[in-house]
Amino acid sequence: MSRLSSRHLLGLEGVPREDIQLILDTAETFREVLERTIKKVPTLRGITVLNLFYEPSTRTRISFELAEKRLSADTISFSTSTSSVKKGESLRDTVQNIEAMKIDMVVVRHSSSGAPYFLTKCVDANIINAGDGSHEHPTQALLDMYTIRKKYGTLEGLRVVLVGDVKHSRVIRSNIWGLKTMGASVALCGPATLLPYEVEKFGCDVYNNIDEALDGADVVNVMRIQLERQQAGLFPSQREYTNLFGINKERLKRLNKNYTIMHPGPMNRGLEITSEVADGEHSVILDQVTNGQAVRMAVLYLLRGRDMEEGEVA
Ligand code: CP
Repeated sequence: MSRLSSRHLLGLEGVPREDIQLILDTAETFREVLERTIKKVPTLRGITVLNLFYEPSTRTRISFELAEKRLSADTISFSTSTSSVKKGESLRDTVQNIEAMKIDMVVVRHSSSGAPYFLTKCVDANIINAGDGSHEHPTQALLDMYTIRKKYGTLEGLRVVLVGDVKHSRVIRSNIWGLKTMGASVALCGPATLLPYEVEKFGCDVYNNIDEALDGADVVNVMRIQLERQQAGLFPSQREYTNLFGINKERLKRLNKNYTIMHPGPMNRGLEITSEVADGEHSVILDQVTNGQAVRMAVLYLLRGRDMEEGEVA
């Protein structure tokens, strides 16, 4: 079995091309499993996975749970609202107590950037980052890359535009690292107030004008405008954002002929993207969700398989 270079998936920054390639290739096998009548393989039988979600999630949480069940793992889903977190128990104590019940892997979403890294210092389980603060959301970017590669056969040389809140989006960060490693040309576009300090250090083309950003692009990945940040006054109004950065049918004329529209969800229809575009023939938004299961199966399998080879489990 080919091996990943790490026993955790905390982000895509610094992850070697070979690891990303291995995950995407392995996901191809699991994508085929999802087309079978019986969508289940015994790969992780006897392994227990904890899904630790400190923030709301629909896609990532269900996708991981399904991926684990389809690999025959035992799964525990943890909700902060019904746990002793409500009584003030810390992240460290929570996870150490659950690990004492013999947990092998932890999938964690947390509002604090770095929470998954912190967990690697507290417990022996494999840690998978399911989104931490404004840091990274690596499995989202992997499923995005898988979906693009499935359509074009490669990521090399494609021009991908990431539109939205570049400053706070963990999905954008993971996409930047992953896409650049795989040889895509990455452009970032958003209001100046939603671009981070020293944005040029990402090594991407940066635009404040959406029409210029879209010129000759192959893929547009539209990010959710985080309405909760409206109070921070980072853009004047939702209507102005839609006028200046919203993806509508008219703007698609600037893209390459065989273009692709993506969105990680949840969508604000009519704000960052029109329904006509989101539901149009070039949209792969629901394919992203389906492919996400296969990618997460691959990540779970490769991380645990790595430890199994090292004899950490029988
Ligand atoms: N794409 C994504 O992370 O969606 P959820 O917040 O629903 O998991």
